[in-house]
Amino acid sequence: MTTWLPHSWQKLPIRQQPCYSDATALDVALTKIKSYPPLVFAGEVEKLKRRLSAAAQGEAFVLQAGDCAERFDQCTPDIIRKKIGLLMQMSLELGMSAQKPIVSIGRIAGQYAKPRSHDVEERGDLSLPIYRGDMINDMAPTLAARQPDPERLVEAYHKSSMTLNFIRALFDGEFPSLEQSKAWGLDKKSFSPQSWDRWEQTLAEMNKSWDMVKRQTNSRAFQVVWDGEFYVSHESLLLSYESAMTRFSEDYKAYYNTGAHFLWLGNRTRTIGEAHVEYLRGLQNPIGIKIDERAEPAVIVDLLKLLNPSNAWGKIMLIPRYGLKSVGQFLPAMIATIEKHKQRVLWSVDPMHGNVFLTSSGRKTRDFNVIVDELGETLRIHSRMGTYLGAIHLEMTGEDVTECIGGRSDLKDMDLEKRYETYCDPRLNAAQGLEISQILSDMLSGREVFAPNVIPMKPSFPATLL
Ligand code: PEP
Ligand code: CO
Repeated sequence: MTTWLPHSWQKLPIRQQPCYSDATALDVALTKIKSYPPLVFAGEVEKLKRRLSAAAQGEAFVLQAGDCAERFDQCTPDIIRKKIGLLMQMSLELGMSAQKPIVSIGRIAGQYAKPRSHDVEERGDLSLPIYRGDMINDMAPTLAARQPDPERLVEAYHKSSMTLNFIRALFDGEFPSLEQSKAWGLDKKSFSPQSWDRWEQTLAEMNKSWDMVKRQTNSRAFQVVWDGEFYVSHESLLLSYESAMTRFSEDYKAYYNTGAHFLWLGNRTRTIGEAHVEYLRGLQNPIGIKIDERAEPAVIVDLLKLLNPSNAWGKIMLIPRYGLKSVGQFLPAMIATIEKHKQRVLWSVDPMHGNVFLTSSGRKTRDFNVIVDELGETLRIHSRMGTYLGAIHLEMTGEDVTECIGGRSDLKDMDLEKRYETYCDPRLNAAQGLEISQILSDMLSGREVFAPNVIPMKPSFPATLL
């Protein structure tokens, strides 16, 4: 194998990249980004790998969620606070039931580039370059707006940095304490009465346990339900940007992507011998791999050996996104092959991407009930096979959007027009996010139903802390 460098991918075939017309402007932008401070540190990345290692071995659970595509104009305190508040709420629901630490990873602070099925979009007589995400071009349907603009790379760095700075500040303040749960930006009106009641019960139970701890230990401290650990992730797609954010750590004597703690390899760019795999091969960051029914189990084993040559726990998260229709057919063979080759992976499930369909009015949507069914089916398969489902990957926002149908509020096709805001895939709204965490909590706490063979649970409190 040839020597790896942050730019060694440049010699290989590559997919899903924009075509910049001004090479000098691209160079100027990338040089700026290379000179900027890292957004995350190698030590944080290593800590996340330890968390993922625990999750892979049945001792923690990972909640990874956020927008399909973040947008520059949504980098506002209110939107970020609500998204993080919802993630905390969901993590606490999961942690209480699963009695395991929950590791939270946002699809946030850098999820600005999207793989697309077509390079162009036909609009009447116009043939426009496709929208590839805010770090590349603008969504507006004009030729000028759709030109890839290198300055957007610099803006993506700044928006990621503002978002992450705000998240870090939230966790440094009183945000993580239970007493401050009102500050999480959650609005009771956004949720169904049933899930909100249940959430209040969860809070009450946590407060009761906390009162007990306080009485026994005479502590006057806030109950910190979160120790400030929050990780950020995005798809490793736009390799010029990713390599500009790749830095050598003198402490660890290795290369890290310092633009996110966790990166994933998309379903459309995971070909061995091509640029995306080559780029990720040299990093210390943990890596997610999206797989659908086109993924040959034997090829995935080769990919695992390439990306995780020491077969370390916590390095790779496999993220199947088969869809309800195909999960029963393809997941068992994939698990069996990975197990046979003794490859160490953290099994996740993305019950979103295989379940997209178009409504009669042409809106892209997903059905909440189908998402839940794929989740249940995935748990049953792992249970049968004696493996551990240690993570879930969702597309979600804290806003009251109407993009996915179903859920307790029973959103219908015709409701989608009310607040359909995504530029890319449809997201769960706040109510649907909380509901899915409660449903998954029930599935996890009744784990004997789903997974008789997995590692026994170790109750611990507070369950969110590792
Ligand atoms: C995504 O996560 O938004 C995405 C495009 O996933 P996939 O690679 O599975 O299509
Ligand atoms: Co998506």
